[in-house]
Amino acid sequence: MPEAKLRVGVLASGRGSNLQAIIDAIEVGKLAARIAVVISNKKDAQALERARRHGVADVFLDPAPYKDRPDGREAYDRAVLAVLKEHEVELVALAGYMKIVTRVFIDAYPNRIMNIHPALLPSFPGLKAQQQALDWGVKVSGCTVHFVTEGVDTGPIIRQAAVPVQENDTAETLEARMLAEEHRIYPEAIQLFADGRLSVEGRRVRIR
Ligand code: GAR
Repeated sequence: MPEAKLRVGVLASGRGSNLQAIIDAIEVGKLAARIAVVISNKKDAQALERARRHGVADVFLDPAPYKDRPDGREAYDRAVLAVLKEHEVELVALAGYMKIVTRVFIDAYPNRIMNIHPALLPSFPGLKAQQQALDWGVKVSGCTVHFVTEGVDTGPIIRQAAVPVQENDTAETLEARMLAEEHRIYPEAIQLFADGRLSVEGRRVRIR
């Protein structure tokens, strides 16, 4: 009997190049997992199109109906969770998901939600991390895969890669080199999870 593969649910809001890197890693046999569903809060997210092209279930969940409710963010997350459960998702990968998830979401998947961020956390959390790095004048930036906890970009770190900043870098040129590293370390982090090699001890992620 073939071994059951880890079922990953990907949440993405835009271009979806990290999603693509995960799909590609699976297709070339570098990552033993399957993407059960891709969910987006943006109807025209390229990520949804990429999912369709690869025969992966894609779901657009419109946040608009939840916007004016006092518990709107939690209610939206419950709707996302319902889709993840329906697709029997075991690990959630945020890949350019530009929405802050709530406690409801985190409690449903403790230490089972990963995110990729384009900086060496804890430096430069939040938006436009590449521009933040340039503005600060750092000589080395990079990217981070971490588990998601409450708080923006603060969870235990799984994997990081350094990207040197070059003299003439713009946010765009730095981003391009950063993405190459993101696309390498995200599938690697998911493979470590799939192999059961990650354990979280406080802030530290142990890799066996
Ligand atoms: C990536 O650079 C990812 O690290 C970043 O958004 C981009 C999404 O690109 N995420 C964040 O900034 C989260 N704070 P993609 O849609 O092509 O994967």
